[in-house]
Formats: sequence, structure tokens, C-alpha cells
Amino acid sequence: MEIGLIGAGSMASALARGISEPVLVSDADHARAEALAAEVGGQALDSNGEVAERADAIVLCHKPAQLDEVARELDGRARVVVSMLGGTSVAQVEAAYPGLPVYRLLPSIPVEVRQGVFCYAPGQLAAKGPERELLDLFGRAGVVFALPEHLIDPAMALMSCGPAFFALMVEAMVDAGVLHGLPPAEAARMTVEAMAGTAGVLRATGDDTAALRRRVTSPGGSTARGLAAFERAGLRAAA
Ligand SMILES: NC(=O)c1ccc[n+]([C@@H]2O[C@H](COP(=O)([O-])OP(=O)(O)OC[C@H]3O[C@@H](n4cnc5c(N)ncnc54)[C@H](OP(=O)(O)O)[C@@H]3O)[C@@H](O)[C@H]2O)c1
Repeated sequence: MEIGLIGAGSMASALARGISEPVLVSDADHARAEALAAEVGGQALDSNGEVAERADAIVLCHKPAQLDEVARELDGRARVVVSMLGGTSVAQVEAAYPGLPVYRLLPSIPVEVRQGVFCYAPGQLAAKGPERELLDLFGRAGVVFALPEHLIDPAMALMSCGPAFFALMVEAMVDAGVLHGLPPAEAARMTVEAMAGTAGVLRATGDDTAALRRRVTSPGGSTARGLAAFERAGLRAAA
């Protein structure tokens, strides 16, 4: 299946790297599309319309506000539409692309290293299009969660915004390490490894965060004091 990316920005690039297939791609900035095609294989085309004509399925990787403008430009040339537009319902995409199979697949940046998450809601004609093929292709880059559509926005806060939240937490911990004398690069490396290792243990033990915290937290010890400091500062309430 030949995928056509409409937009070659941050998320399109992460997706293309994750699925590791040559892509057709266009972008408002042609040089950006060329750079992505040179990196992952495939071809940068001169217009969105050419991508729609040649691709088996287009992936909307532009900004949500450009939905109608891009659909008008494609003028009936697309055959299958995958939308990763944030805050844009399947019904809105179906209205812009009437009569086409539409698949809403919301990704996260870690799809780039094949450790992403996709939230999935099918459109009304999904079963008439290449649903299984698309889910298999995207599934190479991350775990796909099929959800009732009203849960996609709260899910996005976890899986799509989550990487930024975790990155801020890492930064704060690295700064604290530096304050206490650790070299910044080593502080960053050990914190990231600790985060990745924590994810590994949680995966292996059924996502049981409370059990993990108990294993690390000696009564009266430094972890207990650290956790109490996070709670006093309102980390849980802020989340
Ligand atoms: N980043 C995430 O973590 C994330 C997660 C889930 C979903 N999404 C969704 O993914 C989409 C893209 O987000 P992003 O973070 O990748 O944004 P981005 O980096 O700004 O990428 C959007 C790209 O589309 C280009 N573009 C603008 N108008 C276009 C047009 N008419 N035709 C073709 N390309 C056009 C932009 O060019 P210019 O910059 O020159 O305008 C830019 O290169 C959004 O709808 C967002 O909601 C993002």
C-alpha cells in the first residue's frame, strides 16, 4: 500500500520513520517534503493533488484548521483518508471527504522509534476500505487502541501530550541532579534510562504503578521523602 502524506512536519516525519516504508509526500514547504522523502524513501511531489492521485491512502498531516481548504484542493482525487488531525472528529473529516472510507488514527511522537501509541476511531465506511492493511501498517510504529470516539480527546491528553509531560519531568529531575553536583549530560542520560527502565518494569508487571512504588519506597527513606515533596507540590492535582 502506497501512503501519501499531506504535510511533512513533525508528526508526519515521526510516522514515516516509524512505519519505514517509502512515502509520497507534499508540504507547503516543498524542501521539507523533499528532505523527508530523501530520508525515508519515496518521492516529494509538487502538490497535494498529485499525492492524492497516486497514493492508495492519504494521511492528513497538516494542521486541523486546514481540513476544508486541503479537501477542496484535492477535489475528489483522494480514495482513502487517514486523519491524524487533533480535535477533529471522524464526522468532520467525512463531511470534508464525502463517500470515502475515513480512519481517525491519532499518533504520538514515539511512533518515530516504533514505541508509539495510536488511538483509533473508524469512520462509517471503514469496513469498505483497507482497514486491516492500514491498522497493520500503523501498528508497526505503535500500539493501536480502538476507542469510542468521545474518549479520543481524553486519551490524547495521556498518549499524545504525555511525551511532553514526561520530558518536563525529566528536565526537572535533571536540574535537581545538577543542583546537587551531577554533570548535566550524565544526569540526563541516567534519568532517561531510569524512565525507560521504569516503563519496561511496568509493562512486564501489568502496569501496576502502586506495586512498583512500594518496591522502591523504604519506610522513612529518600524515595518516600521525594514522593511526599511531589504530592505537597501538587503534581497529582496538576495532572
Ligand atoms: N505533534 C504531535 O505530537 C501530534 C500528535 C497527534 C496529532 N497531531 C496532529 O498532526 C498534525 C500535524 O501536526 P505537527 O505537529 O506535525 O505540525 P507541523 O509540524 O506544523 O506540520 C504541519 C505541516 O503541514 C504543512 N502544511 C501547511 N499547510 C499545508 C497544506 N495546505 N498542504 C500541505 N502541507 C501543509 C506545514 O507547513 P508550514 O509549517 O509551512 O505551514 C507543516 O510542514 C496536526 O493536525 C496535529 O493535530 C500532532
